[in-house]
Amino acid sequence: MIDFKYNTKGFVDEEEYQKQIDIVRSTVPRVQENSFGGWADLPINYDKEEFARIKKAAERINLNSDYLVCIGIGGSYLGHKAVIETLGNTSRTKILYAGNSLSPRELQKVIDEISEHSFSINVISKSGTTTEPAVAFRILKEKLIEKYGETEAAQRIYATTDANKGALHDEAKAKGYESFVVPDNIGGRYSVLTAVGLLPIAVAGIDIDKLMDGAEEERASLISDGGLAAEYAAMRNLLLEKGFDIEVMANFEPSFAFFNEWWKQLFGESEGKENKGIFPASVIYSTDLHSMGQYMQEGRRNLFETFVEVKNEYKGVKVPKFGEDLDGLGYLEGKEMSYVCKKAERATREAHFVGGVPVLEIEMPELDERSLGALIYFFEMSCALSAFCLGVNPFNQPGVEAYKTRMFELLGKPGFERK
Ligand code: PA5
Repeated sequence: MIDFKYNTKGFVDEEEYQKQIDIVRSTVPRVQENSFGGWADLPINYDKEEFARIKKAAERINLNSDYLVCIGIGGSYLGHKAVIETLGNTSRTKILYAGNSLSPRELQKVIDEISEHSFSINVISKSGTTTEPAVAFRILKEKLIEKYGETEAAQRIYATTDANKGALHDEAKAKGYESFVVPDNIGGRYSVLTAVGLLPIAVAGIDIDKLMDGAEEERASLISDGGLAAEYAAMRNLLLEKGFDIEVMANFEPSFAFFNEWWKQLFGESEGKENKGIFPASVIYSTDLHSMGQYMQEGRRNLFETFVEVKNEYKGVKVPKFGEDLDGLGYLEGKEMSYVCKKAERATREAHFVGGVPVLEIEMPELDERSLGALIYFFEMSCALSAFCLGVNPFNQPGVEAYKTRMFELLGKPGFERK
């Protein structure tokens, strides 16, 4: 379903590329063998009872809540926000996000917005101990209890966490919150198609069956030898070897802005270790052609660009006809805006290539659940393969601990005293 093309002529030798693809393909078995490779079979191997419970919980939240506040950070936040922002929330329940920073101003905005409304909370943390969501949860839980009392508040809290351990797991059990599981064999940034992502996505009125169907279809084409995901991974690694150490994800749909954030975490946290990795960056065009376009065209030549495109064009918004041609747009009269957009896309790819930027293209058929499910799976697979090829573990994030240890020392957390 997901297509991959490239224009890297003059930067990458075709023979070298074919060899690199073989190297990447040889790493495919390592995905399913890995104890954190559970996401690879997820589209065909998920807990159906829990899936049904997610849908029921979403219906209940839609009935009784103007707002669902999703508390989580990193992989417990970016995936569902990415899907909801890309496809749009069609339900009456608005989704708000908390616990993704330590900014009191941001949390106050959430508190102010929900104060006069009905709301529920979905607190999401695999470890159940991450500081940012834990602090936000404590504060918002107090608001929930003030509004509804202990008993109803407990019925409005949905906890997504480890099946057996962690502070959140223990609290959910003690207080009787409805709970969903982050499977042991799936790490945070690969968890969007588990309850981590599916509950908020379902609350937003997005069809989670179709999302999983798309991922399943994509899995079928990638699982044996990596398919086009292996080709994308191979090309990234070759470009890195040639000094292109920044990858810029580019698309012409502003609703993809948050999808780009998910993609940045996926690749950045999976590959950026042991002094290795491509730095993932992103732009939204044509907006950013008027800010970053100059750099893309003529700045340092150490970056390559990956365009994510939607094949099926949105029709129905046309440039109208006017008697006079005061704005000089007569040559576009009657044309679909998508026609203009597609030409801008092509022009940008061509101009940047000529300016010294290798160009990769990833195409999804539609802007809908199935295509997005497929795209998520495509990137997860290519990221894991790419990291294996680079020689790093795609599923850990040891570097994230460094700031935490220092923060705990400064905050005086017991057991973290500064010596
Ligand atoms: O991808 C990851 O594993 C991380 O980004 C985690 O999702 C993030 O640190 C949040 O962890 P937790 O879900 O344990 O609160």
